Amino acid sequence: MQTSELQQTNQEAKGKDSGRRVFSGIQPSGDVQLGNYLGAIKGWVERQAEKTNFFCIVDLHALTVGQDPEELRQQTRSLAAMLFAAGLNPDKCTVFIQSHVPAHAEACWLLNCVTPIGWLERMTQYKDKSANQERVSAGLLDYPVLMAGDILLYDTHEVPVGEDQRQHVELTRDIAARFNHLYGETFVIPEAVIAEVGARVMGLNDPNMKMSKSFSHVRGHAVRILDDPKEIERSFKRAVTDSGNEIRFSDDPEKAGVNNLLGIYKVITAKGNAEVEADFADARGYGDLKVRVAEVVINELTPIRQRYMEFMDDVGELDRMLARGAEQAAAVSVPKVDEIKSRMGLVLP
Ligand code: TYM
Repeated sequence: MQTSELQQTNQEAKGKDSGRRVFSGIQPSGDVQLGNYLGAIKGWVERQAEKTNFFCIVDLHALTVGQDPEELRQQTRSLAAMLFAAGLNPDKCTVFIQSHVPAHAEACWLLNCVTPIGWLERMTQYKDKSANQERVSAGLLDYPVLMAGDILLYDTHEVPVGEDQRQHVELTRDIAARFNHLYGETFVIPEAVIAEVGARVMGLNDPNMKMSKSFSHVRGHAVRILDDPKEIERSFKRAVTDSGNEIRFSDDPEKAGVNNLLGIYKVITAKGNAEVEADFADARGYGDLKVRVAEVVINELTPIRQRYMEFMDDVGELDRMLARGAEQAAAVSVPKVDEIKSRMGLVLP
């Protein structure tokens, strides 16, 4: 196909769903925790009807660190069930598995060839994940290029993520700008959309460390979306706070624990700071605070856990929903990857 024809095809694809495009992703590794939910999934669900949204279960990213094959397969379906249970609706948005749309791996290769290695070596997440590892896969270094491909294939305007992904979205912008400079206007330059609250939920056992799937097995660190109410209450009761008794928002590192608990309460209740503090004016110490925060979290997560079980009971239907998502994603990303190839001088079949 000639470039002009390709552009026309892309124009048609764009015309079908005009308006702003939103793309985000989540890895099917480890247990999905409250930080993923409050920093990303909850916002995706709330805004899924507003724009054209693509949500991707990034199984290829999960492979960058060692995975047990059977566990990865199970966790991928489990994550899909959880996203639908949390409220993503396939009639309103596209939910799909990354490896079902080969354009993602192809885009990664093509973009690799315009990305200087130095840009990747500077990524803080790469430095953290590769520190103290005996063997680091090439995939781990390349991880942000795969992510850039994910985003750029959909002419994405907005990328709703937690704070920890900001640097990767910045890199995506740099890669897009470099490609546009080398080969002509091809990519929309995307923007990270980072919520004011919820973007950085901290570990309950250490409020100076981000809550993370990788540590969700550590006792008291994370609340997992599928934890039962008793477990959630136990985790909050054990949460590290300070030796004082003042329940208020604060930047003071000493009060990071209380601040984190209030932040969690704030995102779930959608209240302002003053209102949140007023809710706790009659609290008898941190014990009370912990129980009440646990309560709103339990109320939020219980229906999700129940719906999750229903989706997991009908894996056939789940797979059909994902196949539909992959088809919708491919309709946009396949013409785009052809455009990239064509720009770079590859002969299209
Ligand atoms: P992942 O799977 O680590 O996390 C999924 C989303 O959850 C957010 N998040 C948090 N938010 C607040 N507090 C926390 N403690 C917390 N922990 C995690 C993450 O910021 C993320 O938004 N590289 C990505 C996945 C990805 C992607 C993409 C994202 C692949 N391709 C394209 C956006 C666009 C990742 O590993 O997310």
